[in-house]
Amino acid sequence: MIQDVEKYLQEVESFRTADAKELENFRIKFLGKKGIINDLFAQFKSVPKEDKPKYGQLLNKLKKTAEEKVKTLRAQLEAAEATAPSGEDLTRPGYPYPLGARHPINIVKNRIIDIFRRIGFNVSEGPEIEDDWHNFTALNLPEYHPARDMQDTFFIQRHPDWLLRTHTSSVQIRYMESHDLPIRTISPGRVYRNEDISARSHILFHQVEGLYIDTDVSFADLKQTLLYFTEEMFGKSKIRLRPSYFPFTEPSAEVDIYWGLKTEDDYRITKGTGWLEIMGAGMVDPNVLKNMNIDPEKYSGYAFGMGIERIAMLLFGIPDIRMFFENDVRFLEQFKSVL
Ligand code: DAH
Repeated sequence: MIQDVEKYLQEVESFRTADAKELENFRIKFLGKKGIINDLFAQFKSVPKEDKPKYGQLLNKLKKTAEEKVKTLRAQLEAAEATAPSGEDLTRPGYPYPLGARHPINIVKNRIIDIFRRIGFNVSEGPEIEDDWHNFTALNLPEYHPARDMQDTFFIQRHPDWLLRTHTSSVQIRYMESHDLPIRTISPGRVYRNEDISARSHILFHQVEGLYIDTDVSFADLKQTLLYFTEEMFGKSKIRLRPSYFPFTEPSAEVDIYWGLKTEDDYRITKGTGWLEIMGAGMVDPNVLKNMNIDPEKYSGYAFGMGIERIAMLLFGIPDIRMFFENDVRFLEQFKSVL
């Protein structure tokens, strides 16, 4: 009988499996209610007296070994299951995250900001709902000034003094109110005008305003800055300044860049002249400085303002301004690779 137990002990010790079912069968065979071990315990009575201590010892060892065997094999099986390949090919490359695209308006805005930052301009912003003072009066456009009609304004009915700003020049005023001199700032933002919507004009669009005020700022400084900007932005180094009129600058100019006349597109875009208007600019009118309590005898400055849509249309060959505001993903997706 002792030999039987020893035989079983050997069997248990040498048992190996990587199969859950086989392990369960093993457990039932030895440790089940009607299993071998219980059976051997039942036979204890009939073991000769002198063999009893050895038999009991061996049997206990058999039970313990069997229990431990089941425990370790079960743990091994579970661990193997957790790391088992699920049938997928783990060497395949992962799915790429879909790439988003910046809006072309933001692309152009960021480029403009970047170019002016390099020469010491900071970025400032102002509210889109403005009052008459900041949008018109302080900018040397008093009530009944005919130039107010040039900018078809959306007024806010319940507040006769409030309107949607027609240009980012209003930020010039806000900035001068709240900052000491010298000032060197650009102000990007959305503006509104009550115009018919077409391929060329919209009721909302974006501008970037620039303002520089210090002692001894001259028209030559303005020209040099504009030249630097057009070279960086368009890679074109020929500009011309046409005399113009803005109430907030004196003298005022419209800035054209020489775009060239190489392709049919160049002819179309420049209407056959080769020249393209890209912004308004000028020396800050002394009246504006006086409105801000800045002494025009001591300080001078220049200002400029440009439309972002117009520049984006030029750079990316976009034919219709309405495309910027429709949020058609087929349009927006095309700017994925542009920074
Ligand atoms: N505010 C003008 C507009 O909306 C643009 C402009 C022209 C801004 C000349 C300026 C400037 O600062 O000096 O059309």
